[in-house]
Amino acid sequence: MADPDAAEGTKMVSRIAIVRGVPDSFCDALSMTPPPQPVDLERARLQHAVYVDVLKDLVQEVIELPADNKYPDCPFIEDTAVVIGNRALITHPGAASRQGEEEAIREALKQLRIHISEVEPPGLIDGGDVLYASGMLFAGNSSRTNVAGIESLQKAFPDVRVHTIRVGEGLHLKSAISSISPKILAVEDSPAAIAMFDEIQQKTDGHFKMVKTLGPGAANTVLVGDAVICSATLGLGSLKLEAHYKQHARHVIPVDISEFHKVDGGLTCLSLLIER
Ligand code: GLY
Repeated sequence: MADPDAAEGTKMVSRIAIVRGVPDSFCDALSMTPPPQPVDLERARLQHAVYVDVLKDLVQEVIELPADNKYPDCPFIEDTAVVIGNRALITHPGAASRQGEEEAIREALKQLRIHISEVEPPGLIDGGDVLYASGMLFAGNSSRTNVAGIESLQKAFPDVRVHTIRVGEGLHLKSAISSISPKILAVEDSPAAIAMFDEIQQKTDGHFKMVKTLGPGAANTVLVGDAVICSATLGLGSLKLEAHYKQHARHVIPVDISEFHKVDGGLTCLSLLIER
């Protein structure tokens, strides 16, 4: 069978990112523990603008959807859909206050002529629980994503093997594990994250290498082609984290998203990447 990672390196990929603005209500976004400092709305908007500018350098097009004050968490657009190539599953987010955010995203994906699937009740799934790496899907069974949601994911992508991974701690699977190259995963240096990585390895016959990061959230990175966007705020701090990832990625771009971390948001949460 052809190696999907080798094919990835040679084919021409067109990339679009969809982002969603920061609403006036953003200070009311959900968080598992109240932040030590309140969210600074203006700072959040500036940080979001920098993140969008970074994406503009990496993809052909960035589609900017307007914020909706009804949904304080709406900048975390990743949770509303899972997209692979020309197919998407529109999610049914696990938090009641977030259900409905996906409407605007469904419309945007239809405009891009992406084939849409829907989650079947009683399915719940957040995109932050879904990691696509090396042609496989890993779905975190978490407080936001249930077994029925994962079954809908498998139905939406019948040609892709979906592995269920138990999220023992934290919000989402990708809060603690993400890709920094097709076969290397950034993994938070915590027992819960290492347990999730071990489960991934067990289910894939040890397919991946691991790069450990220090501190909650620092392992949440966005991989765009051969560039890795990492948090300038967390864990090792900007310079050390950049040096750490540079051993494995050609371009490393630290971005400060401190205001989003305060409400459990990471870098992946802030965009929906379409590669086809
Ligand atoms: N604040 C991000 C989330 O709870 O979904």
